[in-house]
Amino acid sequence: MGIHDEDLQRVKIETDLAGVVSQYVALRKVGQRWSGLCPFHTEKTPSFSVNAEEGFFYCFGCQKTGDAITFVREVEHLDFVGAVEWLANRLGIAIRYTDASDGTARKERQELTELLEKAADFYHQTLRSGSSAGKVRSYLRGRGFDSETVEQFRIGYAPDAWDALASHLDVPASKLEAAGLGRAGQRGGPIDFFRDRVMFPVSDTNGAVVGFGGRMLPEGQQPKYKNTPQTRLYDKSKVLYGLHMAKKHVVEADEIVVCEGYTDVVGCFRAGIPRAVATCGTALTDDHLKLMTRFAKRIVIAFDADGAGKAAADRFYEWEDRHNAEVFVAAIPEGADPGELAEENPAALMNAVASAEPFLSYRISRVLDKSDLDRVEGRARAAANAGAIIAEHPNEVVRDQYLVEVAQKVRVDIEQMRRLVVKPVPAQRQPVSPIDSASDDSVSGEGYEQQEIPQAEMNLLRALVHHSETVTPLTLPSMFSNQLAVDAYHLVTTDGWRDQIDNTSTAVTTLVGRALVEEVDADPIELVSRALDAVIHRWNMELRYDVTEIEQLREHQPMVQWLAQRQEEMHSDDTRTAAVEAVVGWLRSQQTVNATDETTD
Ligand code: GTP
Ligand code: MN
Repeated sequence: MGIHDEDLQRVKIETDLAGVVSQYVALRKVGQRWSGLCPFHTEKTPSFSVNAEEGFFYCFGCQKTGDAITFVREVEHLDFVGAVEWLANRLGIAIRYTDASDGTARKERQELTELLEKAADFYHQTLRSGSSAGKVRSYLRGRGFDSETVEQFRIGYAPDAWDALASHLDVPASKLEAAGLGRAGQRGGPIDFFRDRVMFPVSDTNGAVVGFGGRMLPEGQQPKYKNTPQTRLYDKSKVLYGLHMAKKHVVEADEIVVCEGYTDVVGCFRAGIPRAVATCGTALTDDHLKLMTRFAKRIVIAFDADGAGKAAADRFYEWEDRHNAEVFVAAIPEGADPGELAEENPAALMNAVASAEPFLSYRISRVLDKSDLDRVEGRARAAANAGAIIAEHPNEVVRDQYLVEVAQKVRVDIEQMRRLVVKPVPAQRQPVSPIDSASDDSVSGEGYEQQEIPQAEMNLLRALVHHSETVTPLTLPSMFSNQLAVDAYHLVTTDGWRDQIDNTSTAVTTLVGRALVEEVDADPIELVSRALDAVIHRWNMELRYDVTEIEQLREHQPMVQWLAQRQEEMHSDDTRTAAVEAVVGWLRSQQTVNATDETTD
């Protein structure tokens, strides 16, 4: 059932998001926006913001964002069409459906699912009886994968050919590509995405195949694993391998074991732990946590969670809080993984999972294990190290309990131990006034490793979103040093982007959603000028770094001076606009210079 575009637009325009949200949570006007308790996570102080004019919401606590349709989909558990119907009903708008697009989206999904199922069958049959799969069968047998395991996990083999699957499925390349199974080759015919690999089908919670993980064979020269790229059905940050089989055991035990790889899940099942799942070639995300906690609150991490350090700790504690979960860690011997342990010593694996410790306790144990508690210096160091780890926990009661425990173990006075547990700075969650806050307002995004968006760039994004006509002509991608911000820039400078906001990566959606609900209370041109200020600063720094000869420096001197003058002018209201335009012009010419550099090199 496709909805007539005219009607869809009418619903979108006439819907008052603040009114819709008010049916679920009490909203209070704060500045130009509405604020209330977030309906998507438990909280005591309001972090949920609605920009009624734009029709977008954003939660500063859980980062959920979207328009009225997203909101209704989430709170009412509806799909897109259902949510539009719900909103139309509320407005008294009669919706017309298009025959042409009659359920197109649904039908396409259905088609993709069928294709993926056929592919899984093809790979599986090839492994079981294909003449080319003899070496693969013996490789798997050598790893202890008996035929029962191969059946249970529907493990397969993608033959070493360009188009074995493509010619078996016999569908256009575009379909293969949409399913993540292949693409058009250079000669025009469709070719396979996976070749000469052991295939692990990845299913959604209901067991429908959505993608694959393909492991190369021992003598292969390629990357060890190849995973299905992002498709309409497959999003690695949301999918968990094995969950459809594990879920009933997970619910029974109220515990879920998270591993890193496909073979770890297989190993766990074989060792008698059928409540194991794995991420598919990616770090754990908030969406994974949300999915897992639908089935169990106790999460046991079965991979090296210690190495990740403070950033990982912060995320775990936040998830525990947000999803009401408990994160435990199984002590897998260093250098081993659950898959190997399952083969070599299944009892040890079982034991590691059974004696999993809460994350904080696990980390403290590691510190104490490595310390020499027989010596005064060793105990002092252990106290300091453990203190730093304890300090990361956001809950004072929890911190206190561990502090007492550690003080006893390292034989340090409790008050002294307390001084070592330096209270952490609370994470910035509340909306802050965008420009006046000198505080750290930087944002980081998943999939964009460790990138913090500088304040000036965040403000520039806000200005772009709220004053696009003024700001867009004055903004270039090179004004952003941060990739996530660049991607957000490209999104918000695309025509009709408000309708595209969900079709991008989660990190970008989140960032733009946040910019949408944050007001700009400074002159937009001034915000541009501050971003340019930073650009000039970076340019100067790079120049100093690049230039080795005094001659070269002299050569650049006029430019340096010219920029310094423009910077000066950007600080004063009368001259700002002209100076901004001049610097933007310069930046544009820099780009073309660089481009020619690259082509002539
Ligand atoms: P085995 O070595 O066969 O036991 O597999 P494993 O799961 O133990 O492999 P490993 O611990 O090296 O990797 C864990 C997970 O990371 C895999 O299951 C993959 O999802 C992912 N991974 C590993 N290597 C690659 C790679 O080269 N590319 C991609 N995209 N993902 C990988
Ligand atoms: Mn392994």
